[in-house]
Amino acid sequence: MVHVPTRGSLPARVGPQIDNMPHYGPTKMSRQPYTDPVQYELEREHVLAKHWILGGHASSVENPGDWMTFEGHGETVVITRQPDGSLSAFQNVCQHRGSAFVSEMTGCKARRFTCPYHGWVYDTTGKLVGVPEREDFSEEHLRDVRAPKVAVGEWGGWVWINLAGDDAVPLEEGLGAEIMADLGAYKMEDMVLHEVVEFDVPVSYKAVVDGFNEIYHVTELHHVAPEFTKACRKAAFHVVGDNYMCFVPKPENMDKWDENYDHHKWAICHYVVFPNTVFNCNPEHIQVFNPIPIGVDHTRFLCWQIIYPGDKSDPEYAAYFAKTERLWAGLKVVVGEDIAIYEQLKRTKNSSGYREHILSERECKIHRYHETIALKIRGLG
Ligand code: FES
Ligand SMILES: [Fe+2]
Repeated sequence: MVHVPTRGSLPARVGPQIDNMPHYGPTKMSRQPYTDPVQYELEREHVLAKHWILGGHASSVENPGDWMTFEGHGETVVITRQPDGSLSAFQNVCQHRGSAFVSEMTGCKARRFTCPYHGWVYDTTGKLVGVPEREDFSEEHLRDVRAPKVAVGEWGGWVWINLAGDDAVPLEEGLGAEIMADLGAYKMEDMVLHEVVEFDVPVSYKAVVDGFNEIYHVTELHHVAPEFTKACRKAAFHVVGDNYMCFVPKPENMDKWDENYDHHKWAICHYVVFPNTVFNCNPEHIQVFNPIPIGVDHTRFLCWQIIYPGDKSDPEYAAYFAKTERLWAGLKVVVGEDIAIYEQLKRTKNSSGYREHILSERECKIHRYHETIALKIRGLG
């Protein structure tokens, strides 16, 4: 039967004995991070180019020679599966005169990539291996040329990339041991991709992340039942380095509310990996929300649904699959409600009446998230 995630010997994260909120208090913050093009450029340099971001699902590069591209915040990156099973990643920028040299977004059986402009040839690790009419160039200029390296790693069935290349911190450090242990209990590496939905969103990627750093909006926007709103008051928020965890006990499991509460089994568990990867985990299925910045107030928002695999002719699995389909259909409605709010935020983003945010103590993760970005821009985070 399908894997049932359970807390096991992991620490309790939510329950009557758990301090359920960082002591941050209510705050205010400026609207500037959402609309300032100068800040956006600084974020590209100091945040997006230095942290681990989602490159895609590992199943898209399963076999040697498979490749996929990541496009976001002005960057284009190619991720390739090598003959030994490892991954390579490099910037998709021809070092001759700057054309993207891998034209297709995905493909298989790659041995070489040839730039469509003048025919420079790169191997699948991004190293320059061929130049037509080479004698016309300076050998010195061509020595050791490669498309800039991007660091790449795999964890939880996901491919992670870091534009810092050889200077990237290890992926384990980016994710953090606590998140790897807690989120690891779902065994995402054994799960399969069910669907990916993409939205073009007219607001900053950070406004999308904000929506996952609080649960205040669920009552009004998502019309949840009063029991859910009540259970939300017992939710626990944790800060782990630059990342966050949040656990919302499900109302139907409040009878189990004690110091041994098994959040994997009985709660909705949220993990935000700085700067823009969000895992929304239910015991049966997981959504990965990935707002990829395209511009200061423009975002490509990917919503991935993953489930446990099985044989649909097995009645037990068929029932599980039908349940995940039902739950995912419901969640897509919820995501649609969030998308509708981004349209309302779009209307005000240039308004002189939009100046600052007034945040409750339960919205403290939002304030801290933007504070973390501001510190990193100043070289202090
Ligand atoms: S730009 Fe790629 S070969 Fe000239
Ligand atoms: Fe929402």
